[in-house]
Amino acid sequence: MKTKSIQSIKGTQDILPSEVHFWQEMERKIFEEMALFGFSEIRTPAFENTDLFSRSVGEQTDIVSKEMYTFEDRSGGNLTLKPEATASVVRAFIQHNLDKINTLTRLFYIDALFRRERPQKGRYRQFHQFGAELFGSEHPEADIEIISLASSIFKSIGIDEITLKINTIGSKSARDNYKIELKRFLKPQFNKLSEASRERFEKNPLRILDTKNSQEQEILLNAPQIFEYLSEDDKAHFSEVKMHLKGLNINFEIDPYLVRGLDYYNRTIFEFISNEIGSQNAICGGGRYDSLVSQLGGSDTPSIGFAAGMERILLATSNKERAENIDCYIVCMGNKAQDWVLKCANRLRSMKFSVCFDLLKRSLKSQMKEANRLNAKHAIIIGENEIKDNKFQVKDLDTGKQQEVAFEHIIKYFKNL
Ligand code: HAM
Repeated sequence: MKTKSIQSIKGTQDILPSEVHFWQEMERKIFEEMALFGFSEIRTPAFENTDLFSRSVGEQTDIVSKEMYTFEDRSGGNLTLKPEATASVVRAFIQHNLDKINTLTRLFYIDALFRRERPQKGRYRQFHQFGAELFGSEHPEADIEIISLASSIFKSIGIDEITLKINTIGSKSARDNYKIELKRFLKPQFNKLSEASRERFEKNPLRILDTKNSQEQEILLNAPQIFEYLSEDDKAHFSEVKMHLKGLNINFEIDPYLVRGLDYYNRTIFEFISNEIGSQNAICGGGRYDSLVSQLGGSDTPSIGFAAGMERILLATSNKERAENIDCYIVCMGNKAQDWVLKCANRLRSMKFSVCFDLLKRSLKSQMKEANRLNAKHAIIIGENEIKDNKFQVKDLDTGKQQEVAFEHIIKYFKNL
């Protein structure tokens, strides 16, 4: 009886060779754009002390209260697989005194994150984000740098059909006042709220604004809006953000119902939404978190950042697969030719040409088929006769042109390409 095979864990995905090219291409563009904006890469560990996330993302958030992969270390510590990267980057920023190196710190990451959500299209338990965090400036221009960095990366990846939604949620005290008013407004309608919203009513009432339930959305049309509770400084900050976005021709919509699922934000928050990927339509989310660094033990450092979900970007991008592609396939016939094939392959590889050859001693016909499957640009045919006469066939598989070349000239042939 065949042994039962082991399957991957629900909500995790293998990235197979047929799609890994897309990931590599996306990563290349991310590196390129991040460098253009002066951001340096940071890599943080896959797990952290659980406290880091409860103190930053917030005890009452879905992420911390329901979705974290938390486990006890053998020595008793409480650890969590990173559900998001901002908290880790802030921890590293404080731990390594990065603020002492520069007044402004621009960091980016590409990382795997873990959340125990209900898996569906665009929502996974292990997923990947790229993101950027800008530490040290409270000015609206920093918000613009972050939003235009995200926007440039999406453009360079080829995602056009997205909408930028922005909102401002002011300071904690403004939000606390607003929460009281929102609850006062919602209380008489409590029975009409969904179970999820009733649960949020006490713990995190702002998240009710985020509802996808149309009956609740209708109720909320008459709800007080947070903007009315903001200070004049908060309002002026937001006006400047909008002014600069217009100046840069970055289209946006103001969404007074936009709230984010993490507690560390203040003032500007934003999301990029795609209409083409189903219900999990947020490609990217971010915002200002001016108190987080001090809250986690660092000095007062106004900051802003974003993170984008790479699986969702993949869903929003057509043309995901790219066929394999090599420079040369060596067709080999007869045992005596093997040594020549190995030599020839390594010489060409040392010149940075990609080379494959048969390892199954298959027929000439099957080897030519394999060369085509690999989209080889050239084929070299090495058989016992070719070795005896020192005349090898080099075929350009795009044009079909074939040439007889002496072994020592094969290298020259490739050099002249
Ligand atoms: P977030 O909104 O939780 O923000 O996640 C950012 C993006 O990650 C989402 O817009 C989505 O594209 C992707 N994402 C989140 N959860 C999943 C999932 N389960 N499966 C697939 N993709 C997912 C943050 O993580 C903040 N740290 C962003 C930030 C950085 N704010 C400031 N700096």
